[in-house]
Amino acid sequence: MAEVVLNNLIKDYSDGKKLKIRAVNNINLKVNDQEFMVLVGPSGCGKSTTLRMIAGLEEISEGSIKIENKIVNNVLPKDRDIAMVFQNYALYPHMNVYDNMAFGLKLMKHSKLEIKKRVNDAAAILGIEDLLDRKPKALSGGQRQRVAVGRAIVRKPKVFLFDEPLSNLDAKMRVSMRTEISKLHSRLATTMIYVTHDQVEAMTMGDRITVMKDGDIMQVAEPLELYHHPANTFVAGFIGSPSMNFFQGKITRTNNQIKFIEYNESDTPIVLTLQKKESRIASTYLNKEIILGTRPEDISDLTTVNNPISGYAIQAKLEVSEPMGAETFLYLNTGVTPFVAKVRSKNRYLINQIINLNFEPGRIHFFDPKTKNVLK
Ligand SMILES: Nc1ncnc2c1ncn2[C@@H]1O[C@H](COP(=O)(O)OP(=O)(O)OP(=O)(O)O)[C@@H](O)[C@H]1O
Ligand SMILES: [Mg+2]
Repeated sequence: MAEVVLNNLIKDYSDGKKLKIRAVNNINLKVNDQEFMVLVGPSGCGKSTTLRMIAGLEEISEGSIKIENKIVNNVLPKDRDIAMVFQNYALYPHMNVYDNMAFGLKLMKHSKLEIKKRVNDAAAILGIEDLLDRKPKALSGGQRQRVAVGRAIVRKPKVFLFDEPLSNLDAKMRVSMRTEISKLHSRLATTMIYVTHDQVEAMTMGDRITVMKDGDIMQVAEPLELYHHPANTFVAGFIGSPSMNFFQGKITRTNNQIKFIEYNESDTPIVLTLQKKESRIASTYLNKEIILGTRPEDISDLTTVNNPISGYAIQAKLEVSEPMGAETFLYLNTGVTPFVAKVRSKNRYLINQIINLNFEPGRIHFFDPKTKNVLK
């Protein structure tokens, strides 16, 4: 059972003088045995630092790390039974592919026969049998990447750690290596912790995703749970592309109907007359400020909606239109709030045109403006 448990984990770097930089701020996380866990978040949020502490490459300031029920704070990296794949691959340039993959095993004093078997097995899994005699400089980026992964596989570790392993590859290669690593995970059935700042990689690869910001964990959940039920505006805005739209406003009640009214000095703020679950949630914020969030894909051109529910229609001015093929991204403005709608490419649109749109009932999220947490 190679589960990995982080307990009140803190990392403070010193800037060389007195100042402390808190890179990881008291995080708690349990990665299950055989799970593919992705750590995702913007640059500088503490992903690599967390991974490097698990690997033992970075000292822990406070808290503990358990691998397979054993606290490893004071265990040397080489004795933790983990393998890490880095962004820059770190292959030995003077050794051929076979020796790059065999090197760690030689240090561990495995027999020649065992080493040969493991390297050949890994090479077969990764489809690099033909490259074993080549030096790294004679390989493409994708091939080097495979060798770096191969070097990790041959060690048969309890846990694989990946730090942005695909970021040096071109877009097409990234997509195919993404699938390769997912397949590898099902095949090896090993715990994997994978760091990326790319939310598409996170969504497509992770069994679960940990979203980080400024050294804190914002939410841990399965991909679609993050998409449908973000815990706060940060996760809501980070997961999904284009990002979720946010509108500032307040909740009122007139004639027993709960309404969201956008803050807008003009005569035509967005007004939604809410239904069912949305009206129940919003009614707890009567006469208070609130943030409304809805995704571009949950806003449609009203003329394309069959039986639209009244109360969810709005008008906005078109600033830019981007036809993507099946869909068109409309960059709109309510007068105070810029937002994006992802609509079916059916109608033609003119810049500065006022467009009638429809918010999808049941697809609206409300957040507290101070805590930024979702209202349930
Ligand atoms: N050796 C160091 N000394 C001082 N500060 C550091 C050191 N390494 C990292 N930091 C700081 O710690 C914070 C977290 O860094 P980390 O490398 O973990 O971020 P990251 O999430 O991996 O970002 P990226 O996506 O850019 O790789 C950052 O503010 C960074 O500047
Ligand atoms: Mg990093």
